[in-house]
Amino acid sequence: MESIYIHGGIALQGQVRIQGSKNAVLPVLAATLLTEGTSIIGNCPRLTDVFYMQTLLESLGCQTVWEEGKLKINAKKAGEIHALSEMPEEAVKGMRSSIILLGALLGRTHEVRIEYPGGCVIGKRPIDLHLAALKKMNVEFEEKSFGLYAYTEGLCGAEITLPLPSVGATENLLLAAVKAKGTTIIRGAAREPEIKTLCDFLSLCGADITGAGSSTIIVRGVEHLAGVEFEVPGDRIVAGTYLCACMAAGGEVLLKEAPILQMQSVLETAIKMGASCQTTPEGLYVQVHDKLQAPRKLVTEPYPGFPTDMQSLFLTVLSLAEGSCLIEETIFENRFHTVPCLRDMGAKIVQTDARHVLIEGVEELQGVRAAAQELRGGAALVVAGAAAKGETIVDGCHFIERGYENICRDLRELGVRIYGV
Ligand code: UD1
Repeated sequence: MESIYIHGGIALQGQVRIQGSKNAVLPVLAATLLTEGTSIIGNCPRLTDVFYMQTLLESLGCQTVWEEGKLKINAKKAGEIHALSEMPEEAVKGMRSSIILLGALLGRTHEVRIEYPGGCVIGKRPIDLHLAALKKMNVEFEEKSFGLYAYTEGLCGAEITLPLPSVGATENLLLAAVKAKGTTIIRGAAREPEIKTLCDFLSLCGADITGAGSSTIIVRGVEHLAGVEFEVPGDRIVAGTYLCACMAAGGEVLLKEAPILQMQSVLETAIKMGASCQTTPEGLYVQVHDKLQAPRKLVTEPYPGFPTDMQSLFLTVLSLAEGSCLIEETIFENRFHTVPCLRDMGAKIVQTDARHVLIEGVEELQGVRAAAQELRGGAALVVAGAAAKGETIVDGCHFIERGYENICRDLRELGVRIYGV
């Protein structure tokens, strides 16, 4: 699918089941490399990034197969394939999560050759914290023409304090630590729900981890990890996307299996703006019938603060709210790619620097032809199209497919007139 056509301006009505979480499943898939058996991953979303990870695992000797919507990974032979073998460049460069293979592969084969990872164009996204912390665990790195060569004569537990609660660095350290010799203490760890999910998976496999979900995680290395069956939780950002669609276009929707407990800061903001958000046994029930009120300021922060991944979606919502709001993006620079498109649609947005935009809500947006430049920004343009009068065409939808199984099908279930070609 390359382009999405939306006939917008109609209030939403309907219900949709929220897919499994992309950001939770990718580290879990990397972690299967550390097991010597077969893992079965249920509620595994069928997304480009998951397919990339599947390709990478296969190139490293795993056997993978989809069975009844679950992804089955047999990692028995992963150790036999030399980790210096070429990993498919397209898959490594295609997604940033390929970097978490570093910790997993060091744990499994002690030697890794990896291209520098890719991902969204949302700022520099360095990996210096990953490398500095892994060095403390007895890993050596060499810069090569192809990228990075890493090796260890045996991973050792260490006390590590992260200067920033980096999600990726915390994941890499966990993956390196579970089979390292001795105990690893990670201070300043990220507290995102995806870290807790990774720890839950690893613990089920036999790892010894305490403190998951807090900023100090203690990992005692074990010899073996077994393959297990595991269910991926719902995707909090996808649920947040459809919440935003309802906030922007109005209406009422049921987001079945939305991970409500992981969405507190987003729900607090939505409720403060005037949306009705109720927890039901089936999921999150959202009603938006009146014009929403803009908060004065919205600041992205590490979890449990307001997530950077929801920022561009709220930028769309705020374009249509009453009053003005300043958004401050503290996690990534260069994460306001949708501003020119929203302005074309009639939004009033002033970008003051790389990390701040000021939005003054307008009465309505008009459909235009726009191009997605990255994953969440692309979804935010689709949400803008659902709210705008007339027809919106969003090109560059391969970015959106990195994180949404089928955004057109889901939004159609919520009553949006939308199709992809
Ligand atoms: C980030 C988000 C995560 C989101 C994901 C996908 C945060 C804290 N993390 O995770 O919630 O799901 O993007 O959009 O919101 N940094 C360094 N050096 C490093 C690693 C990171 O300086 O080695 C900096 C980054 O530039 C950034 C901050 O640390 O400013 C957080 O980055 P990190 O959490 O590692 O990013 P992701 O793992 O991609």
